[in-house]
Amino acid sequence: MTAVWKKTTALTFETAPFAIRAERASDVAAREALLDASFGEGRHARTCQRLRDGRMPAEGLAFSAVHQGRVVGTVRLWHVSAGAIPALVLGPLAVEASCRSLGVGAALMNHALAAAKARGHGAVILRGDAGYYARFGFSAAKTGELALPGPFERERLLAVELRPGALDEAFGMIVATGDKLRRAAVRAGAKARKLLIQAA
Ligand SMILES: CC(C)(COP(=O)(O)OP(=O)(O)OC[C@H]1O[C@@H](n2cnc3c(N)ncnc32)[C@H](O)[C@@H]1OP(=O)(O)O)[C@@H](O)C(=O)NCCC(=O)NCCS
Repeated sequence: MTAVWKKTTALTFETAPFAIRAERASDVAAREALLDASFGEGRHARTCQRLRDGRMPAEGLAFSAVHQGRVVGTVRLWHVSAGAIPALVLGPLAVEASCRSLGVGAALMNHALAAAKARGHGAVILRGDAGYYARFGFSAAKTGELALPGPFERERLLAVELRPGALDEAFGMIVATGDKLRRAAVRAGAKARKLLIQAA
């Protein structure tokens, strides 16, 4: 699924729009460099990383923003159990510094949320600034009784329901439930194994 986005106020993007498409194995090096530049080397110690360690992203829910053949944005979603309720955790979301404030982040978010809804997922949770994520419907309204496996600021644990009521009664620890990398690699066979491990 590929979507092409234009923002009328962005002159550079008028002539060269960006596309949001499914992440490819060939995006991995650029994605990792973008995440290093956006979050620094400490990014692997962040609490939400505990929900991604050794796991595959949810099927069909890893996206790249591409501008003139270059990866300039990334977002992925991951299976979790939110106090026994199946949900997705979104992150990391990052856009290359030179391409920010042009709508790339919003396009990635809207595309990812629409794709998650189309696949029947009920809710998306993330740790981030309400000042940015409220525009996509995220709030702390349904996360007050949830916890992450590590330190986090209560006001930054946000969620949006894709199915009304999906997070009613959500209570307890958010834990990873996605396919483990090794299991996915074995299923994929030798040829795809290297790509899967690179893509994690
Ligand atoms: C957050 C991020 C993904 C937004 O990408 P983007 O392509 O610039 O997003 P958009 O163009 O859709 O929106 C930009 C707007 O959001 C605002 N914004 C960005 N981060 C924000 C934040 N943390 N809180 C509030 N507003 C924020 C910008 O100021 C900008 O406002 P403007 O339109 O009035 O200029 C990007 O700034 C980024 O990669 N930051 C570093 C990594 C990061 O912090 N990721 C999010 C983790 S919580």
